[in-house]
Amino acid sequence: MQDQNYQSLHLELAADDPWRLDGNPFERQRHAQMLRLSLCQGSITNALEVGCAAGAFTERLAPHCRRLTVIDVVPKAIARTRLRMNDPSHISWVVGDVQQFSPEEPFDLIVVAEVLYYLESVAEMRAAISNLVSMLAPGGHLVFGSARDAACRRWGHAAGAETVIAMLNEMLIQVDRQQCQGASVNEDCLLARFRSPVRPSHESTSAQQKAGIPAVVHLDGSARLQPISRTSLHKVAELLVDYEN
Ligand SMILES: C[S@@+](CC[C@H](N)C(=O)[O-])C[C@H]1O[C@@H](n2cnc3c(N)ncnc32)[C@H](O)[C@@H]1O
Repeated sequence: MQDQNYQSLHLELAADDPWRLDGNPFERQRHAQMLRLSLCQGSITNALEVGCAAGAFTERLAPHCRRLTVIDVVPKAIARTRLRMNDPSHISWVVGDVQQFSPEEPFDLIVVAEVLYYLESVAEMRAAISNLVSMLAPGGHLVFGSARDAACRRWGHAAGAETVIAMLNEMLIQVDRQQCQGASVNEDCLLARFRSPVRPSHESTSAQQKAGIPAVVHLDGSARLQPISRTSLHKVAELLVDYEN
């Protein structure tokens, strides 16, 4: 992360209510929408929240998670959130950069909102997303949120919501998407929920190849089979039974 970005994060995190995440009704509404998206999959066993600021969203998410890891690149963010939450035993704290983070266990939920545009370039954003995707358990969910591309560029960042959502669509399956809008032009963000495939795509692709089934797998996770013979159809049926088991 650029030193300048780090310094401005550090300054903001010294304020009473950083980014007005507690005081601004738009931010509270955004957090309510993020929580709804986070809880769609039912109970949460092991979650990751990236970029906690002073803990406004952590406070909402934590009661729903059996285990929660919270990571932030600025030590002050972790210290403030830890104090606010009274340091419960089901939360692990990490001071670190999302680009380098490498957990021991996969997560069934990852929440990353208003964080990735602090990275220096679109290439760094892509690398951070790949890293996050690699931490998702099969069938796990990732909730992403960000101000839109136009606002982020106006603020001097490389990119925002639309760019990241397009990248996530290459790696995961988008299952929900919402817009959150307030009164000012800066209060306009996209929230999206993604699911990781139940099995890594290379496994199903090689199984299909072994069975000789021609398939077109689209980047949104859908797969369309080309016209195939009756024999291949039997192989598809066998694969499905195998997959179900
Ligand atoms: C604007 S706050 C977002 C807070 C919260 N996620 C939300 O949506 O309200 C951004 C937070 O992300 C953290 N952050 C920025 N870049 C990061 C990085 N590369 N790795 C981890 N945390 C980062 C900042 O320190 C800050 O606490």
